Amino acid sequence: MTDAGTTAGDDTPTPDTLRESARLVVATADLDAKVDLAYATAKAWFSRRLGRGSGRVGPALAERPGRPEKPVLLAPRDMPRRSSVGLAGRIALVHSLAHIELNAVDLTWDLVARFVDQPVPRSFFDDWVQVGLEEAKHFSMLAERLRELGAAYGDLPAHDGLWQAAEATGFDLRARLAVIPLVLEARGLDVTPVMADKVRAGGDDRTAAILDVIYRDEKRHVAFGAKWFRFLCDRDGVPPEPAFHDLVRRCFRGALKPPFNDRARSEAGLTPGFYKPLAVLKG
Ligand SMILES: [Fe+2]
Ligand SMILES: [Fe+2]
Repeated sequence: MTDAGTTAGDDTPTPDTLRESARLVVATADLDAKVDLAYATAKAWFSRRLGRGSGRVGPALAERPGRPEKPVLLAPRDMPRRSSVGLAGRIALVHSLAHIELNAVDLTWDLVARFVDQPVPRSFFDDWVQVGLEEAKHFSMLAERLRELGAAYGDLPAHDGLWQAAEATGFDLRARLAVIPLVLEARGLDVTPVMADKVRAGGDDRTAAILDVIYRDEKRHVAFGAKWFRFLCDRDGVPPEPAFHDLVRRCFRGALKPPFNDRARSEAGLTPGFYKPLAVLKG
């Protein structure tokens, strides 16, 4: 059983296992507390103060992440058209990015908690705890930027489509890695540099600088995804590219949309043989 205890040297108490601490990050509805717990969990894990834990003990994982009352979550088709001009446009863009990063926080810590019993080396969790820490940082930076713009996360409605990726891939770690880092985060590599240029051209250097940080970090997240996807395929004796095509077709609705940032994808170890056939077949 994982009793909550205080983690020495940190203000935010964490439970004594990674599984339970990661579960709590996802379940926590207060967003400041969620971010603090993500930071504290990473700190405790990297200072080797947390055991790995097991999904066979402790409470079940939340089916949906803990969230505050606001923003109102709408089906993607019900989302109002976003303003794209002036201060309202800036706020709408940063708000939508903050929402994506908040989902990334929950998706990553859910991965850590859900697959904690997998026969993988400890370095697997080092990588994903690092990702979970960085997603919390991305959300915090964007939430802070919203405050600078005189707004707050929760002011605008947000779409409810992103958690579907978690639900569709909860059954299998290879499916989770195929869809989250290797489809969704890889898509971020395609669009973020273009977005940063546009934002900078519009005179918003501070938001552009945040996008630069996110882009740099996300490249590494995709690289972790590619590395561990290959590791699992190797372990299971299946060829990675056909396995990827099969999982994406089964678990991800929608086409992989070009143009692709081939260079950044390749640098992250996501070579065209993974994604190009899906764009051709589904696009
Ligand atoms: Fe992120
Ligand atoms: Fe990420």
